Amino acid sequence: MIDFHSHILPGMDDGAKTPEESIELLKLSFRQGVSLMCATPHFYPWENTPEEFLARRRRSWELLKASLAGCSERVPKILLGAEVAYFEGIARSHDIDSLKLDGTGIILLEMPFSNWTARMWEEVTELSLRRDTVVMLAHIERYLHFGAREYLTNLPHRSIIIQTNGEAFIQGPFKRRSVSSLLRRGAIDVLGSDCHNLELRAPNLRTASEQIKKHLGESFLVTIEDKSRRLLESFGITGF
Ligand SMILES: [Fe+2]
Repeated sequence: MIDFHSHILPGMDDGAKTPEESIELLKLSFRQGVSLMCATPHFYPWENTPEEFLARRRRSWELLKASLAGCSERVPKILLGAEVAYFEGIARSHDIDSLKLDGTGIILLEMPFSNWTARMWEEVTELSLRRDTVVMLAHIERYLHFGAREYLTNLPHRSIIIQTNGEAFIQGPFKRRSVSSLLRRGAIDVLGSDCHNLELRAPNLRTASEQIKKHLGESFLVTIEDKSRRLLESFGITGF
């Protein structure tokens, strides 16, 4: 399994606080079947420049790597990235190119928690049309009340990838039915745990997978796995 969204890098945001906590999250994810983990700390353009963010991420990653050297249990491979908060003008900002998932053109984009406007969607579309850029919309289930659904039913092309959090399949029947209907229509592509800690926001992709299998059938899981692998393979990332 590939986890496209997590906050496992120590001290970067409201996710893992220490390398020890990061390692516990990684070990648990691996035991749940995650072979590749995308580490996507929050990037807020009003708090950091991309350069400052990348310097902080480098330090956090070095700290984690040093701690992982003493870890005897297997953990997923890690790809560094960011969860980039939407801002007005993002489609014309080349600063964010450095925040793509390492070795890929994928930008994990966190939309605002307010009604989606045609203007916002124009920006997302324009960004996705840029050469070597794939927009991955983070945790789509959180936006279904903000008018996201109407945009998802008519995606202009496949440079927009839809990511759902595992919790959407776990937190109760109402949310599960909403995301399940999107999944049935092929409007959901990949999963992320969005894990932050071992308590309320823990790795959950095994439970999510079990729920998908139970309520929708195994073929949907296979499709998600296929789409996830093919997406990374399209950028030459293999062997996970
Ligand atoms: Fe997140």
